[in-house]
This record gives sequence, C-alpha cells and structure tokens, in this order.
Amino acid sequence: MTLTCEIRRNGGPDVLEWIDTEPGEPGPGEVRIRHHAVGLNYIDIYHRTGLYPLSLPSGIGLEAAGEITAIGDGVTDLAIGDRVAYASAPLGAYAEERLMPADRVVPLPDAVDARSAAALMLKGLTAHFLLFRTFAIQPGQRVLVHAAAGGVGYLLCTWATHLGATVIGTAGSREKAAIAREAGCAEVIQYRDGNIATQVRRAAGKRGVDVVYDGVGAATFQDSLDSLAPLGMMVSFGNASGPVPAFEPSELARRGSLFFTRPSLLDYTRERQDLLDGASALFDAVEAGILSARIGQEFPLPEAARAHRALEARKTTGASLLIPD
Ligand SMILES: NC(=O)c1ccc[n+]([C@@H]2O[C@H](COP(=O)([O-])OP(=O)(O)OC[C@H]3O[C@@H](n4cnc5c(N)ncnc54)[C@H](OP(=O)(O)O)[C@@H]3O)[C@@H](O)[C@H]2O)c1
Repeated sequence: MTLTCEIRRNGGPDVLEWIDTEPGEPGPGEVRIRHHAVGLNYIDIYHRTGLYPLSLPSGIGLEAAGEITAIGDGVTDLAIGDRVAYASAPLGAYAEERLMPADRVVPLPDAVDARSAAALMLKGLTAHFLLFRTFAIQPGQRVLVHAAAGGVGYLLCTWATHLGATVIGTAGSREKAAIAREAGCAEVIQYRDGNIATQVRRAAGKRGVDVVYDGVGAATFQDSLDSLAPLGMMVSFGNASGPVPAFEPSELARRGSLFFTRPSLLDYTRERQDLLDGASALFDAVEAGILSARIGQEFPLPEAARAHRALEARKTTGASLLIPD
C-alpha cells in the first residue's frame, strides 16, 4: 500500500486528505515510480482552492523525483531502477509511489540527485522556457523578476544574470532581498518601499526594462506594465497574489506598443522533444555550475498542509520539498 493525497472538495489546506491506495501495475506506456522527493509548487494551491478547476476527487501535485519500480508494455527507453523525474500532469505527485505515462518522465544524470531534481524540474523547466523561448534574453538587457527569492524567481534571476542580463528583483522581506542578491540581482526592490515602477526606473534607467517576468499577478500587474520600456514584453506567468484583472489592449499601446503573453509550462513541454530539450538544457546548466537547487525548506510528505500554509503565507524561500518516509 502507498500513502496518497486526495482532494474531494476545494478549500483550505485541510482538504488535503491522505489515503492508502494500491498504485497497481503499469499499463501500456506507463511506469511506476517510487518517489524520493516531491516538489511543492504554487499551482498546487490553485488546484486545491479551485482557482484552476479540477474534476474531483483528484490527486494533487505535478513534480517529483524517484526510481522506477515497474514498467508497462511498450516502454523501451526506461528500465526498472532508473532514476527519473517529472513535472507534468496527471496530478498525483503527493504520493509515495504512483503510475505515470512514460513519455512524461525524464531520466536523471548522475550529477542531479533526487532532492535537487524535485526542486528543479518544474521550476527550472519554467525558467528555461521563459528565458529562452517566451522572450529570448540577450546580454545587456534589463529584466524585472518578481518574487526573486521564490522557487521560480531564484532560478530566473540566476540564469538571466548568467546570460548577461541586468536583473532587478522584487522581494517581500529583508531576508528575501539578501537571497535575491545571492541569485544575482543587481538591485532588489522591497515591495513595502512603495511604488515599484518608480524604483525600477531608478534602478534600470528612465527607459525601463526590456522584459518583466511576473508570477505574482494581481498585486504587481500595474507596476509591471509601468516598468516596461517601449516594445517591452510583459510575461504574466502566475497569480500568487490573485489573478490579473481584465485590461484594455490600449493600455499596451499607451505605454509604447508593449507585448503581453500568459504562457504555461504545459504548452511548452507538450511535445516530448520539447520536454527533453528543456530538461537537457536545465541539467547541463546544473552540471556547469550555472544553476543549483536552492531548497529553502523540507516537510515530511504527510505534512503537505503545513507546507501549503507556509507557501501561501509568503514564509518560504527558494524551493520547498515534501519528503516521503
Ligand atoms: N506559467 C507557468 O507555466 C508556471 C510554472 C511554474 C510556476 N508558475 C508560477 O510562478 C509563480 C511562482 O511559483 P513558485 O511555486 O516558485 O512560488 P514562490 O515564488 O516560491 O512563492 C510565491 C511567492 O510569491 C510572492 N508573493 C507576492 N504576493 C503574494 C501573495 N499575496 N501571496 C502569496 N505569495 C505572494 C511571495 O514572495 P515575496 O514575499 O518575496 O513577494 C511568495 O514567496 C506562481 O505564480 C506560479 O503559479 C507558473
């Protein structure tokens, strides 16, 4: 039997229920994975609260790393004992062991241990597509990253700095500001110091920044638009503070023909080759010492509700892991 988290209704962290299930034998094209570490992501909160609707009951969690314990028919490129990770639906990563479609699973290189993989897969693949595909960062560009000490934010700042960009980060506390600087930010703005856009222009120059990576959403949206240089790119990739309100396209014109996109990792990894390319760029960056997992906190898997409370209360830094027994 294996411990698995299920949600039967939307709500607060208390709706995370633990049940004993039998993961069963993998069907054609599937593998069974015993998890060594599970990644906590903000999207888990959107699924739990119902901001992103699910058909219930449902498993929860999209990211984990572990070892293959069984292989279904037709799976030729993975074997029992392989160390693997994933960042993908179907939901159900909050479990000791589970079945997964083999084409969503990526083998891990020796240099990446299970904890690092569970901290890096979803957040690192996201940083990769945002920096290389949504808006391809060029040396010398100015970049604004919100929640720079957070899971995705920390990786965005580290990687963008390595690519030669000047990164301005925002952070919710002095401790987080120090972490954002450690991630390479040339300047860190604390939200409580007032108008973000004014401070960004003070740091980046009057013209503003070339791109904003905004995973905070409602609370920062207006400041993000106001921070952009003409023809700049607004990348709205999350809503930790709530969804971005509807806005008039003329708001983009008024600020200098801005671009706006609302990308999702799902679309950028829908094709297996895109998933493998992203993972290999991510693991290469880890092996080259450009990126590393910054695991700010770990929780026993059955204490996922406590982890959710910490993430929602802005009490976490870097990545958070849920560790099975
Ligand atoms: N589009 C995609 O494909 C994709 C993929 C992965 C993640 N994401 C998004 O990326 C964002 C970051 O995800 P993550 O898992 O790495 O989380 P995280 O950044 O580690 O945590 C969220 C952070 O957002 C900041 N924040 C600002 N206002 C907040 C509020 N009212 N409530 C809660 N947090 C607030 C907090 O940092 P400060 O205290 O420093 O402000 C908090 O620590 C999320 O919006 C997530 O949905 C999107």
